[in-house]
Amino acid sequence: MARTKSQFVCQQCGYSQSQWSGRCPECNAWNSLVETALQVQSSKLKVQNEGRIFKLSDIKIDEAGRVKTGETELDNVLGGGMVAGMVVLVAGEPGIGKSTLMTQVALNSYGAVLYVCGEESAAQVAIRVKRLSGSTSPSRPPSPKIGEGKGEVFLFESNDVDEVVQKFEGEKPGLVIVDSIQTLTTADLAGTAGSVGQVRECAQRLTAVAKRAGIPIFIVGHVTKEGNIAGPRVLEHIVDTVVWFEGERGQPLRLVRTVKNRFGGTDEVGVFEMTDKGLVGVTDPSRMLLSERVEEVPGSVVSVVMEGKRPILAEIQALAVPTQSPVPRRVATGIDYARMQTLVAVLTARAGLRLESHDIYVNVTGGIRLADRGVDLAICLAIASAFLNRNLSGKIAAVGEVGLLGEVRKVLGLERRVKEAKKLGYSVASAESGKSVAAAIKKLLKD
Ligand code: TYD
Ligand code: MG
Repeated sequence: MARTKSQFVCQQCGYSQSQWSGRCPECNAWNSLVETALQVQSSKLKVQNEGRIFKLSDIKIDEAGRVKTGETELDNVLGGGMVAGMVVLVAGEPGIGKSTLMTQVALNSYGAVLYVCGEESAAQVAIRVKRLSGSTSPSRPPSPKIGEGKGEVFLFESNDVDEVVQKFEGEKPGLVIVDSIQTLTTADLAGTAGSVGQVRECAQRLTAVAKRAGIPIFIVGHVTKEGNIAGPRVLEHIVDTVVWFEGERGQPLRLVRTVKNRFGGTDEVGVFEMTDKGLVGVTDPSRMLLSERVEEVPGSVVSVVMEGKRPILAEIQALAVPTQSPVPRRVATGIDYARMQTLVAVLTARAGLRLESHDIYVNVTGGIRLADRGVDLAICLAIASAFLNRNLSGKIAAVGEVGLLGEVRKVLGLERRVKEAKKLGYSVASAESGKSVAAAIKKLLKD
Protein backbone atom coordinates (compact mmCIF):
# COMPACT_ATOMS: atom_id res chain seq x y z
CA MET A 1 0.00 0.00 0.00
CA ALA A 2 1.36 3.41 -0.94
CA ARG A 3 1.96 5.71 1.96
CA THR A 4 1.65 9.44 1.50
CA LYS A 5 4.35 11.58 3.00
CA SER A 6 5.12 15.19 2.60
CA GLN A 7 8.33 17.11 2.10
CA PHE A 8 9.04 20.82 2.01
CA VAL A 9 10.43 21.62 -1.40
CA CYS A 10 12.20 24.87 -2.29
CA GLN A 11 10.44 26.50 -5.26
CA GLN A 12 13.67 28.16 -6.32
CA CYS A 13 16.28 25.39 -6.30
CA GLY A 14 14.36 22.15 -5.69
CA TYR A 15 16.05 21.38 -2.36
CA SER A 16 13.78 19.37 -0.06
CA GLN A 17 13.62 18.62 3.64
CA SER A 18 11.06 17.22 6.04
CA GLN A 19 10.67 20.38 8.16
CA TRP A 20 9.49 23.82 7.21
CA SER A 21 11.88 26.71 7.57
CA GLY A 22 11.65 30.33 6.56
CA ARG A 23 14.78 30.25 4.47
CA CYS A 24 16.10 27.58 2.12
CA PRO A 25 19.38 26.24 3.57
CA GLU A 26 20.62 25.47 0.07
CA CYS A 27 19.99 28.65 -1.96
CA ASN A 28 19.09 31.03 0.90
CA ALA A 29 15.80 32.10 -0.71
CA TRP A 30 13.25 33.37 1.81
CA ASN A 31 9.81 31.82 2.11
CA SER A 32 10.36 29.43 -0.75
CA LEU A 33 9.68 26.08 0.94
CA VAL A 34 6.28 24.65 0.00
CA GLU A 35 4.82 21.50 1.45
CA THR A 36 4.45 18.90 -1.28
CA ALA A 37 2.90 15.43 -1.09
CA LEU A 38 5.15 12.57 -2.05
CA GLN A 39 4.01 9.09 -2.94
CA VAL A 40 6.37 6.67 -1.21
CA GLN A 41 6.18 3.12 -2.52
CA SER A 42 6.62 0.64 0.31
CA SER A 43 6.75 -2.37 -2.01
CA LYS A 44 8.52 -2.60 -5.35
CA LEU A 45 7.89 -0.01 -8.04
CA LYS A 46 4.31 -0.20 -9.20
CA VAL A 47 2.41 1.87 -11.75
CA GLN A 48 -0.56 3.54 -10.08
CA ASN A 49 -2.35 5.33 -12.89
CA GLU A 50 -1.66 3.62 -16.14
CA GLY A 51 -1.07 5.97 -19.06
CA ARG A 52 -2.86 5.41 -22.33
CA ILE A 53 -1.39 5.27 -25.82
CA PHE A 54 -3.34 6.61 -28.80
CA LYS A 55 -2.67 6.41 -32.51
CA LEU A 56 -2.73 10.00 -33.73
CA SER A 57 -4.90 9.03 -36.71
CA ASP A 58 -7.50 7.48 -34.39
CA ILE A 59 -8.11 10.65 -32.46
CA LYS A 60 -11.25 12.48 -33.52
CA ILE A 61 -11.54 16.10 -32.59
CA ASP A 62 -15.16 16.90 -32.10
CA GLU A 63 -15.75 20.66 -32.07
CA ALA A 64 -19.46 19.97 -31.94
CA GLY A 65 -18.81 18.06 -28.72
CA ARG A 66 -18.35 21.31 -26.85
CA VAL A 67 -20.93 21.77 -24.17
CA LYS A 68 -22.36 25.23 -23.69
CA THR A 69 -22.38 26.75 -20.23
CA GLY A 70 -25.52 28.63 -21.19
CA GLU A 71 -23.74 31.95 -20.66
CA THR A 72 -22.78 33.03 -24.19
CA GLU A 73 -20.19 35.56 -23.02
CA LEU A 74 -18.45 32.85 -20.99
CA ASP A 75 -18.70 30.28 -23.80
CA ASN A 76 -16.94 32.66 -26.19
CA VAL A 77 -14.16 33.19 -23.71
CA LEU A 78 -13.71 29.44 -23.25
CA GLY A 79 -13.36 29.01 -27.00
CA GLY A 80 -16.91 27.89 -27.75
CA GLY A 81 -17.97 26.05 -24.60
CA MET A 82 -16.69 23.36 -22.26
CA VAL A 83 -14.73 20.33 -23.36
CA ALA A 84 -14.86 16.96 -21.55
CA GLY A 85 -12.21 16.90 -18.83
CA MET A 86 -11.50 20.62 -19.15
CA VAL A 87 -10.25 22.26 -15.97
CA VAL A 88 -11.10 25.95 -15.74
CA LEU A 89 -9.80 28.22 -13.01
CA VAL A 90 -12.11 31.18 -12.36
CA ALA A 91 -9.94 33.77 -10.63
CA GLY A 92 -10.87 37.14 -9.21
CA GLU A 93 -11.08 39.34 -6.15
CA PRO A 94 -13.58 38.41 -3.42
CA GLY A 95 -17.06 39.80 -4.06
CA ILE A 96 -16.56 40.31 -7.77
CA GLY A 97 -19.19 37.72 -8.80
CA LYS A 98 -17.46 34.37 -9.23
CA SER A 99 -19.97 32.41 -7.18
CA THR A 100 -22.82 34.19 -8.95
CA LEU A 101 -21.51 33.20 -12.36
CA MET A 102 -20.86 29.63 -11.25
CA THR A 103 -24.36 29.31 -9.82
CA GLN A 104 -25.78 30.53 -13.13
CA VAL A 105 -23.66 27.99 -15.01
CA ALA A 106 -24.90 25.25 -12.67
CA LEU A 107 -28.51 26.25 -13.30
CA ASN A 108 -28.05 26.37 -17.07
CA SER A 109 -26.14 23.14 -17.45
CA TYR A 110 -27.44 19.88 -18.71
CA GLY A 111 -27.18 16.81 -16.51
CA ALA A 112 -26.19 16.54 -12.89
CA VAL A 113 -23.98 19.21 -11.41
CA LEU A 114 -21.88 18.70 -8.30
CA TYR A 115 -21.44 22.09 -6.63
CA VAL A 116 -18.86 21.88 -3.88
CA CYS A 117 -19.52 24.70 -1.46
CA GLY A 118 -16.54 24.99 0.79
CA GLU A 119 -17.04 28.64 1.49
CA GLU A 120 -20.78 28.92 1.93
CA SER A 121 -23.41 26.60 3.35
CA ALA A 122 -25.77 24.79 0.97
CA ALA A 123 -28.54 27.04 2.31
CA GLN A 124 -26.60 30.15 1.28
CA VAL A 125 -26.21 28.80 -2.24
CA ALA A 126 -29.94 28.01 -2.30
CA ILE A 127 -30.68 31.62 -1.32
CA ARG A 128 -28.59 32.78 -4.28
CA VAL A 129 -30.39 30.35 -6.58
CA LYS A 130 -33.68 31.79 -5.39
CA ARG A 131 -32.41 35.32 -6.03
CA LEU A 132 -31.26 34.39 -9.51
CA SER A 133 -34.24 32.38 -10.64
CA GLY A 134 -37.03 33.24 -8.25
CA SER A 135 -37.28 29.67 -6.97
CA THR A 136 -35.11 27.15 -5.12
CA SER A 137 -36.15 24.43 -7.55
CA PRO A 138 -35.88 26.17 -10.91
CA SER A 139 -36.51 24.19 -14.05
CA ARG A 140 -33.30 23.21 -15.76
CA PRO A 141 -32.47 21.86 -19.20
CA PRO A 142 -33.51 18.20 -18.96
CA SER A 143 -31.42 16.15 -21.38
CA PRO A 144 -28.07 15.10 -19.99
CA LYS A 145 -25.32 15.67 -22.54
CA ILE A 146 -22.30 14.31 -20.74
CA GLY A 147 -22.01 11.95 -17.81
CA GLU A 148 -24.90 9.88 -16.53
CA GLY A 149 -26.47 12.78 -14.73
CA LYS A 150 -30.08 12.97 -13.75
CA GLY A 151 -30.31 16.70 -14.20
CA GLU A 152 -30.05 17.85 -10.59
CA VAL A 153 -27.79 20.33 -8.87
CA PHE A 154 -26.18 18.61 -5.89
CA LEU A 155 -24.76 20.94 -3.28
CA PHE A 156 -21.91 19.31 -1.43
CA GLU A 157 -20.64 20.98 1.74
CA SER A 158 -17.10 19.77 2.12
CA ASN A 159 -13.59 21.01 2.76
CA ASP A 160 -11.83 17.73 2.08
CA VAL A 161 -10.52 17.35 -1.44
CA ASP A 162 -10.24 13.57 -1.18
CA GLU A 163 -13.91 13.34 -0.24
CA VAL A 164 -14.73 15.57 -3.21
CA VAL A 165 -12.67 13.35 -5.53
CA GLN A 166 -14.51 10.32 -4.21
CA LYS A 167 -17.95 11.87 -4.83
CA PHE A 168 -16.77 13.06 -8.22
CA GLU A 169 -15.87 9.52 -9.28
CA GLY A 170 -18.85 7.89 -7.58
CA GLU A 171 -21.61 10.19 -8.84
CA LYS A 172 -20.23 10.89 -12.34
CA PRO A 173 -21.93 14.28 -12.68
CA GLY A 174 -21.94 16.19 -15.95
CA LEU A 175 -20.13 19.15 -14.41
CA VAL A 176 -18.27 19.87 -11.20
CA ILE A 177 -17.90 23.32 -9.62
CA VAL A 178 -15.53 23.85 -6.70
CA ASP A 179 -16.10 27.09 -4.77
CA SER A 180 -13.39 27.75 -3.75
CA ILE A 181 -9.99 26.04 -3.96
CA GLN A 182 -8.78 28.06 -0.96
CA THR A 183 -11.19 26.20 1.33
CA LEU A 184 -10.11 22.69 0.38
CA THR A 185 -7.43 20.64 2.12
CA THR A 186 -6.03 17.16 2.02
CA ALA A 187 -5.14 15.35 5.24
CA ASP A 188 -1.91 14.23 3.55
CA LEU A 189 -0.39 17.67 4.07
CA ALA A 190 -0.03 19.58 7.32
CA GLY A 191 -0.52 23.08 5.85
CA THR A 192 -3.70 25.05 6.42
CA ALA A 193 -6.38 25.68 3.79
CA GLY A 194 -5.24 28.34 1.35
CA SER A 195 -1.51 27.67 1.77
CA VAL A 196 0.46 27.26 -1.44
CA GLY A 197 1.12 23.57 -0.80
CA GLN A 198 -2.53 22.74 -0.06
CA VAL A 199 -3.93 24.80 -2.93
CA ARG A 200 -1.58 23.23 -5.43
CA GLU A 201 -2.04 19.66 -4.21
CA CYS A 202 -5.85 19.97 -4.13
CA ALA A 203 -5.92 21.41 -7.65
CA GLN A 204 -3.67 18.62 -8.88
CA ARG A 205 -5.94 15.96 -7.41
CA LEU A 206 -9.06 17.56 -8.90
CA THR A 207 -7.38 17.91 -12.30
CA ALA A 208 -6.31 14.28 -12.30
CA VAL A 209 -9.84 13.04 -11.61
CA ALA A 210 -11.40 15.44 -14.14
CA LYS A 211 -9.10 14.07 -16.85
CA ARG A 212 -9.69 10.47 -15.81
CA ALA A 213 -13.46 10.83 -15.75
CA GLY A 214 -13.69 13.21 -18.72
CA ILE A 215 -15.80 15.66 -16.73
CA PRO A 216 -15.33 19.44 -16.99
CA ILE A 217 -14.62 21.25 -13.76
CA PHE A 218 -14.66 24.90 -12.74
CA ILE A 219 -12.38 25.80 -9.84
CA VAL A 220 -12.96 29.16 -8.17
CA GLY A 221 -9.86 30.90 -6.80
CA HIS A 222 -9.59 34.20 -4.93
CA VAL A 223 -6.90 36.74 -5.60
CA THR A 224 -6.04 39.95 -3.83
CA LYS A 225 -5.68 43.30 -5.57
CA GLU A 226 -2.03 42.50 -6.28
CA GLY A 227 -3.07 39.13 -7.72
CA ASN A 228 -0.29 37.30 -5.94
CA ILE A 229 -1.86 35.42 -3.06
CA ALA A 230 -1.47 31.65 -2.73
CA GLY A 231 -3.87 30.42 -5.32
CA PRO A 232 -4.52 31.34 -8.90
CA ARG A 233 -0.92 32.20 -9.71
CA VAL A 234 0.43 28.84 -8.52
CA LEU A 235 -2.39 27.05 -10.31
CA GLU A 236 -1.94 28.55 -13.76
CA HIS A 237 0.23 25.75 -15.04
CA ILE A 238 -1.93 22.98 -13.55
CA VAL A 239 -5.25 23.90 -15.13
CA ASP A 240 -6.21 24.07 -18.84
CA THR A 241 -7.82 27.47 -18.81
CA VAL A 242 -7.57 30.50 -16.56
CA VAL A 243 -10.49 32.89 -16.67
CA TRP A 244 -9.87 36.21 -14.97
CA PHE A 245 -12.83 38.08 -13.56
CA GLU A 246 -12.36 41.86 -13.40
CA GLY A 247 -14.37 44.87 -12.40
CA GLU A 248 -14.73 47.58 -9.82
CA ARG A 249 -16.90 46.70 -6.88
CA GLY A 250 -19.79 49.13 -6.72
CA GLN A 251 -19.83 49.37 -10.53
CA PRO A 252 -21.94 46.95 -12.55
CA LEU A 253 -19.50 46.19 -15.37
CA ARG A 254 -17.57 42.92 -15.22
CA LEU A 255 -14.99 41.73 -17.75
CA VAL A 256 -14.10 38.09 -18.07
CA ARG A 257 -10.90 37.31 -19.94
CA THR A 258 -8.76 34.25 -20.49
CA VAL A 259 -5.09 34.55 -19.66
CA LYS A 260 -4.42 30.96 -20.67
CA ASN A 261 -6.49 28.55 -22.73
CA ARG A 262 -5.47 25.11 -23.96
CA PHE A 263 -8.80 24.82 -25.80
CA GLY A 264 -9.05 28.16 -27.57
CA GLY A 265 -7.61 31.63 -28.02
CA THR A 266 -6.83 34.08 -25.25
CA ASP A 267 -8.01 37.20 -27.01
CA GLU A 268 -11.72 36.89 -26.29
CA VAL A 269 -13.24 39.03 -23.62
CA GLY A 270 -16.67 38.47 -22.13
CA VAL A 271 -18.65 41.41 -20.78
CA PHE A 272 -21.28 41.13 -18.07
CA GLU A 273 -23.38 43.50 -16.06
CA MET A 274 -24.09 42.70 -12.41
CA THR A 275 -27.81 43.21 -11.82
CA ASP A 276 -30.20 42.31 -8.94
CA LYS A 277 -30.85 39.07 -10.75
CA GLY A 278 -27.28 38.04 -11.36
CA LEU A 279 -24.86 38.56 -14.20
CA VAL A 280 -26.31 39.46 -17.58
CA GLY A 281 -24.23 39.24 -20.75
CA VAL A 282 -23.67 42.61 -22.43
CA THR A 283 -23.46 42.38 -26.20
CA ASP A 284 -22.99 46.10 -26.69
CA PRO A 285 -20.69 47.38 -23.92
CA SER A 286 -19.92 50.62 -25.82
CA ARG A 287 -23.52 51.72 -25.65
CA MET A 288 -23.63 50.91 -21.94
CA LEU A 289 -20.41 52.80 -21.19
CA LEU A 290 -21.49 55.90 -23.10
CA SER A 291 -25.13 55.89 -22.03
CA GLU A 292 -24.69 58.62 -19.42
CA ARG A 293 -22.17 60.73 -21.31
CA VAL A 294 -22.72 64.46 -21.36
CA GLU A 295 -21.47 65.73 -24.71
CA GLU A 296 -19.80 69.03 -25.48
CA VAL A 297 -18.29 69.65 -22.06
CA PRO A 298 -14.60 70.33 -21.45
CA GLY A 299 -12.72 67.34 -20.03
CA SER A 300 -14.67 64.55 -21.71
CA VAL A 301 -13.17 62.59 -24.61
CA VAL A 302 -14.23 59.25 -26.07
CA SER A 303 -11.75 56.60 -27.22
CA VAL A 304 -12.03 53.19 -28.84
CA VAL A 305 -9.97 50.56 -27.05
CA MET A 306 -9.37 46.94 -27.96
CA GLU A 307 -10.34 44.46 -25.28
CA GLY A 308 -9.04 41.28 -26.85
CA LYS A 309 -10.55 41.19 -30.31
CA ARG A 310 -13.37 43.44 -29.26
CA PRO A 311 -13.39 47.20 -29.87
CA ILE A 312 -15.10 49.10 -27.05
CA LEU A 313 -15.90 52.81 -26.81
CA ALA A 314 -15.06 54.30 -23.44
CA GLU A 315 -15.23 57.80 -22.02
CA ILE A 316 -12.16 59.41 -20.48
CA GLN A 317 -12.84 62.32 -18.14
CA ALA A 318 -10.31 64.79 -16.83
CA LEU A 319 -10.43 67.60 -14.33
CA ALA A 320 -7.76 70.28 -13.87
CA VAL A 321 -7.97 72.61 -10.88
CA PRO A 322 -5.40 75.12 -9.54
CA THR A 323 -3.35 73.34 -6.92
CA GLN A 324 -3.18 74.34 -3.26
CA SER A 325 -0.03 72.38 -2.49
CA PRO A 326 3.61 72.65 -3.58
CA VAL A 327 3.42 69.28 -5.33
CA PRO A 328 0.36 69.09 -7.58
CA ARG A 329 -1.91 66.05 -7.23
CA ARG A 330 -2.27 63.49 -9.99
CA VAL A 331 -5.09 60.96 -9.59
CA ALA A 332 -5.72 58.19 -12.12
CA THR A 333 -8.74 55.89 -12.01
CA GLY A 334 -9.06 53.18 -14.65
CA ILE A 335 -5.66 53.88 -16.22
CA ASP A 336 -2.12 53.25 -15.09
CA TYR A 337 -0.83 56.02 -12.78
CA ALA A 338 2.67 56.02 -14.27
CA ARG A 339 1.20 56.27 -17.77
CA MET A 340 -0.83 59.30 -16.73
CA GLN A 341 2.27 60.99 -15.29
CA THR A 342 4.17 60.32 -18.52
CA LEU A 343 1.38 61.84 -20.60
CA VAL A 344 1.21 64.90 -18.33
CA ALA A 345 4.96 65.34 -18.84
CA VAL A 346 4.54 65.02 -22.62
CA LEU A 347 1.78 67.64 -22.58
CA THR A 348 3.98 70.01 -20.58
CA ALA A 349 7.11 69.55 -22.67
CA ARG A 350 5.68 69.05 -26.15
CA ALA A 351 2.40 70.93 -26.17
CA GLY A 352 3.40 73.81 -23.90
CA LEU A 353 0.65 73.29 -21.33
CA ARG A 354 1.72 74.66 -17.91
CA LEU A 355 0.19 71.81 -15.95
CA GLU A 356 2.52 72.11 -12.94
CA SER A 357 0.19 74.66 -11.37
CA HIS A 358 -2.82 72.34 -11.50
CA ASP A 359 -4.05 69.21 -9.78
CA ILE A 360 -5.14 66.72 -12.44
CA TYR A 361 -7.66 63.92 -12.13
CA VAL A 362 -8.30 61.36 -14.86
CA ASN A 363 -11.14 58.86 -14.70
CA VAL A 364 -12.47 56.19 -17.06
CA THR A 365 -16.23 56.00 -16.54
CA GLY A 366 -18.09 52.76 -15.96
CA GLY A 367 -15.41 51.10 -13.79
CA ILE A 368 -13.48 49.66 -16.72
CA ARG A 369 -9.66 49.49 -16.57
CA LEU A 370 -7.84 50.35 -19.77
CA ALA A 371 -4.39 49.01 -20.60
CA ASP A 372 -4.51 49.60 -24.37
CA ARG A 373 -2.03 52.33 -25.42
CA GLY A 374 -4.51 53.45 -28.05
CA VAL A 375 -6.19 55.46 -25.30
CA ASP A 376 -3.19 57.82 -24.88
CA LEU A 377 -4.43 60.45 -27.31
CA ALA A 378 -7.83 60.57 -25.63
CA ILE A 379 -6.20 61.01 -22.20
CA CYS A 380 -4.04 63.85 -23.54
CA LEU A 381 -7.00 65.53 -25.20
CA ALA A 382 -9.15 65.15 -22.07
CA ILE A 383 -6.47 66.76 -19.88
CA ALA A 384 -5.87 69.54 -22.41
CA SER A 385 -9.60 70.05 -22.82
CA ALA A 386 -10.10 70.40 -19.05
CA PHE A 387 -7.05 72.63 -18.60
CA LEU A 388 -7.86 74.94 -21.52
CA ASN A 389 -11.59 74.80 -20.83
CA ARG A 390 -12.28 74.00 -24.48
CA ASN A 391 -14.39 71.06 -25.51
CA LEU A 392 -14.04 68.63 -28.36
CA SER A 393 -15.92 69.61 -31.48
CA GLY A 394 -18.48 67.07 -32.58
CA LYS A 395 -18.77 63.33 -32.01
CA ILE A 396 -15.14 62.34 -32.18
CA ALA A 397 -13.40 59.30 -30.72
CA ALA A 398 -9.63 59.78 -30.29
CA VAL A 399 -7.39 56.81 -30.93
CA GLY A 400 -3.59 56.74 -30.88
CA GLU A 401 -0.54 56.02 -28.80
CA VAL A 402 1.42 59.10 -27.71
CA GLY A 403 5.23 58.91 -27.73
CA LEU A 404 7.67 60.90 -25.61
CA LEU A 405 8.38 63.24 -28.52
CA GLY A 406 4.74 64.21 -28.50
CA GLU A 407 4.06 62.25 -31.66
CA VAL A 408 0.80 60.39 -32.23
CA ARG A 409 1.38 56.80 -33.29
CA LYS A 410 -0.74 54.29 -35.13
CA VAL A 411 -2.42 51.46 -33.22
CA LEU A 412 -3.47 47.96 -34.13
CA GLY A 413 -6.98 47.16 -35.28
CA LEU A 414 -7.81 50.69 -36.44
CA GLU A 415 -10.33 49.47 -38.99
CA ARG A 416 -12.30 47.56 -36.38
CA ARG A 417 -12.20 50.54 -34.06
CA VAL A 418 -13.49 52.86 -36.76
CA LYS A 419 -16.34 50.46 -37.49
CA GLU A 420 -17.38 50.22 -33.84
CA ALA A 421 -17.19 54.01 -33.44
CA LYS A 422 -19.38 54.47 -36.50
CA LYS A 423 -22.09 52.27 -34.99
CA LEU A 424 -22.52 54.84 -32.23
CA GLY A 425 -22.20 57.80 -34.55
CA TYR A 426 -18.58 58.71 -33.74
CA SER A 427 -15.85 59.43 -36.23
CA VAL A 428 -12.30 58.48 -35.29
CA ALA A 429 -9.44 60.95 -34.94
CA SER A 430 -6.17 59.03 -35.10
CA ALA A 431 -2.53 59.48 -36.11
CA GLU A 432 -3.71 60.35 -39.63
CA SER A 433 -5.63 63.41 -38.54
CA GLY A 434 -2.86 64.96 -36.39
CA LYS A 435 0.78 63.93 -36.39
CA SER A 436 1.57 65.44 -33.02
CA VAL A 437 -0.38 65.80 -29.85
CA ALA A 438 0.01 69.60 -30.06
CA ALA A 439 -1.48 69.59 -33.58
CA ALA A 440 -4.33 67.33 -32.44
CA ILE A 441 -5.15 69.72 -29.56
CA LYS A 442 -5.16 72.67 -31.92
CA LYS A 443 -7.28 70.93 -34.50
CA LEU A 444 -9.79 69.07 -32.33
CA LEU A 445 -10.49 71.41 -29.41
CA LYS A 446 -12.93 74.26 -30.03
CA ASP A 447 -11.83 77.78 -29.28
P1 TYD B 1 -20.28 36.70 -5.41
O1 TYD B 1 -20.63 35.93 -6.62
O2 TYD B 1 -20.69 36.10 -4.10
O3 TYD B 1 -18.73 37.05 -5.37
P2 TYD B 1 -17.45 36.09 -5.23
O4 TYD B 1 -17.90 34.70 -5.28
O5 TYD B 1 -16.57 36.49 -6.38
O6 TYD B 1 -16.81 36.46 -3.93
O7 TYD B 1 -20.92 38.14 -5.62
C1 TYD B 1 -21.07 38.95 -4.55
C2 TYD B 1 -21.63 40.30 -4.90
O8 TYD B 1 -22.52 40.31 -6.00
C3 TYD B 1 -22.38 40.78 -3.72
O9 TYD B 1 -21.88 42.06 -3.40
C4 TYD B 1 -23.81 40.82 -4.13
C5 TYD B 1 -23.73 40.94 -5.61
N1 TYD B 1 -24.88 40.30 -6.31
C6 TYD B 1 -25.71 41.08 -7.09
O10 TYD B 1 -25.53 42.29 -7.21
N2 TYD B 1 -26.74 40.48 -7.77
C7 TYD B 1 -27.01 39.13 -7.67
O11 TYD B 1 -27.95 38.64 -8.29
C8 TYD B 1 -26.13 38.35 -6.84
C9 TYD B 1 -26.36 36.87 -6.69
C10 TYD B 1 -25.08 38.96 -6.18
MG1 MG C 1 -17.89 33.33 -3.67
